[in-house]
Amino acid sequence: QRRGYHEKVLDHYNNPRNVGSFKKGDQDVGTGLVGAPACGDVMKLQIRVNKDSGKIDDVVFKTFGCGSAIASSSYLTELVRGMTLEEAGKIKNTDVAKELCLPPVKLHCSMLAEDAIKSAISDYHKKNPNVRATDLSGTGAAIPDVKVEIEHTSSGSPAAAI
Ligand code: FES
Repeated sequence: QRRGYHEKVLDHYNNPRNVGSFKKGDQDVGTGLVGAPACGDVMKLQIRVNKDSGKIDDVVFKTFGCGSAIASSSYLTELVRGMTLEEAGKIKNTDVAKELCLPPVKLHCSMLAEDAIKSAISDYHKKNPNVRATDLSGTGAAIPDVKVEIEHTSSGSPAAAI
């Protein structure tokens, strides 16, 4: 095992769940595209929302980034499937980091996942202004840019998953 990578990270990295993208123009899809300025890694996350239930019934991602970023997005897709937008909007990067046992220097990778889901939710609401508004107060929703102070470190040479 490489230093800094827990086996859960390696599992998601080697077998990423729900990789892909939805075809353009789907009104029920919200897209989040975010980047980490510190390392240049990029994550795209898309959710498809069932209008009747208000729940996320499908979710896909594409991440160009380090193993922790790929694992974070892969895990996130499993986590948010079946959630309401309210629930998904409350996910914190620390939830992801804890599940994947990310070391402190890799916390910003899980931050990408939190930003991506918030950005996807906000995009969905923008496209569907008539759908019941979600209470995202205090969650930092709709913040497209990521503020990262942590330096890129040796444990994560960037790798393309896709
Ligand atoms: Fe930047 Fe992981 S997202 S090193």
